[in-house]
Amino acid sequence: MKIILLGPPGAGKGTQAKLISEKYTIPHISTGDIFRKNISEKTTLGVKAKEYMDKGLLVPDELTIDLVKDRLSESDCKNGFLLDGFPRTVKQAEALEDFLRINNQKIDTALLIDVPGKLIFERMTGRRVCPACGASYHVKFNPPKIEGKCDACGSDIVQRKDDAEETVRDRITVYEKQTQPLVEYYNSKDQLFVVDGTQSIEEVFNTISNYMGSKK
Ligand code: AP5
Ligand code: MG
Ligand code: ZN
Repeated sequence: MKIILLGPPGAGKGTQAKLISEKYTIPHISTGDIFRKNISEKTTLGVKAKEYMDKGLLVPDELTIDLVKDRLSESDCKNGFLLDGFPRTVKQAEALEDFLRINNQKIDTALLIDVPGKLIFERMTGRRVCPACGASYHVKFNPPKIEGKCDACGSDIVQRKDDAEETVRDRITVYEKQTQPLVEYYNSKDQLFVVDGTQSIEEVFNTISNYMGSKK
């Protein structure tokens, strides 16, 4: 199964990606997580990516596309994958399509988690993430079992630097300008499924699971 997750910042892509990748045993590939790991390890890529991410801007396509192609070439992606936060520009979508076409493959579904702007701020300000394993929590909607600790690995959970209100505003604008065109891109290819992201985490996951089940 080859799935793409689309949606504005804070829509719940990472949250659903974790559940979907566990259910279908496919790797969860988040370009945001890959960049954050590189930032914390102070790699050359991390230093470059940080400049853009801190401002809420997209990391340039030249740095992003090859990174994803390399990741998709790894053996664990043979039976499918879940891309979270990629593609984010039409150029990235075209590069992905070309890359898959070489192996006579294409994505099965682009899942759009649809959430209106006014809900995004509440989700972002309450979000806490695990820097070690990437798990995402919310102080109100999805608290960890032990306050401040990751359920999965026990690390201290933190707030993301780009979750400051001003940066969130910029990220939403960037999403509308650069990423939203992908909704029509996948719709025109009959690959789009829209899920109402204002439902609870469980309801969103059930809707996605039912849809994926009906496609088999
Ligand atoms: P990235 O890490 O991908 O961030 P994003 O797209 O802005 O999305 P988020 O991770 O903020 O939100 P999410 O949809 O995953 O929501 P979550 O599940 O955490 O990218 C960060 C940056 O990296 C970009 O700005 C860019 O600079 C760079 N980048 C990454 N990919 C790139 C690319 N391809 N090209 C160029 N640059 C790239 O949920 C949010 C909160 O809400 C959580 O607290 C969660 O618990 C809660 N929540 C989730 N679902 C629900 C629900 N149904 N009800 C109530 N609460 C919920
Ligand atoms: Mg995310
Ligand atoms: Zn963790």
